[in-house]
Amino acid sequence: MQALRLEDVRFRYPGMSGWALDIPSLGIGQGEFVTVLGPNGAGKTTLSFLANGLIPKSIKGESEGSVEVFEHKASEYSVAQLSTLVGMVFQEPESQLFCMSAEEEVAFGPENLAVPRDEIARRVEWALGLVGLKGMNGRSPSTLSGGQKQRLAIAAALSMKPSMLVLDEPAYALDPVGRIELYTILSDLKTNHGMTVVVMERDAEALAKFSDRFVVLVGGRITASGPPAAVLRDPRFLKEAGVSPPQLSEVASMISARRKGPPLGFLTVEEAVAEIMVNAPRHTRMVSR
Ligand SMILES: Nc1ncnc2c1ncn2[C@@H]1O[C@H](COP(=O)(O)OP(=O)(O)OP(=O)(O)O)[C@@H](O)[C@H]1O
Ligand SMILES: [Mg+2]
Repeated sequence: MQALRLEDVRFRYPGMSGWALDIPSLGIGQGEFVTVLGPNGAGKTTLSFLANGLIPKSIKGESEGSVEVFEHKASEYSVAQLSTLVGMVFQEPESQLFCMSAEEEVAFGPENLAVPRDEIARRVEWALGLVGLKGMNGRSPSTLSGGQKQRLAIAAALSMKPSMLVLDEPAYALDPVGRIELYTILSDLKTNHGMTVVVMERDAEALAKFSDRFVVLVGGRITASGPPAAVLRDPRFLKEAGVSPPQLSEVASMISARRKGPPLGFLTVEEAVAEIMVNAPRHTRMVSR
């Protein structure tokens, strides 16, 4: 089943001359972990607004085409209904946390849907546990670290029991350790709970090993889509898109340029070392011993 399907989608904010987004076709399968890579102004936030119905329901502009969420037209759902299918997490954790305690934050969404109290209590424990905040029910969100705040925002989205999470640069304000913790939680949600995960980011390096697919978005258009190793095989392509390629892909590309055969696309240090040992000239190998 397709979790998200866009056909001939175009969107323009009021007063804009070109399209903010122009996507002839994009499908994201249920249970897929997709990273959308794109520079400033690529259309990443616009794409997340389309997935959760804020466009066209709350954010106005000129729109064309069809957006389907789990095989139903997004336009047939209210924003509240969509929030039980698509959980949203934004760039700034502060902008989405407004309660006095972590527990209230996670309970807020289901309370608004009049979910029974005991079910809400179960969901709070479940969601806080999934994001590594077990036992922090009474903590004030303002006392949490940036990474914990962002994980609390994920728990708040999870308490609506969505089947898909869409995260708009969720690791923007986090340090490298916090980023990996966040991506690991998202990856576990996919692997252990069948969650569809769509992350809008610029961090190709960290996300390569977590993602099933990279989609490159530039100027509102998709310029590449495929497994991370395939998309990273030509780092020039990402550079042109304004996204920094991982250093390892640049190494792979430089080695590929100097030898015959198909282009290399290693993603880990171990793969790189194995490749270099196989292809290095004999004397280099002897020196390295
Ligand atoms: N409210 C708005 N009104 C007018 N134009 C907008 C508005 N929001 C975004 N745009 C324009 O739409 C295009 C896509 O913007 P969008 O915010 O989706 O990109 P982005 O990839 O999320 O960028 P960033 O990395 O800066 O967050 C850009 O050209 C941007 O200037
Ligand atoms: Mg954005």
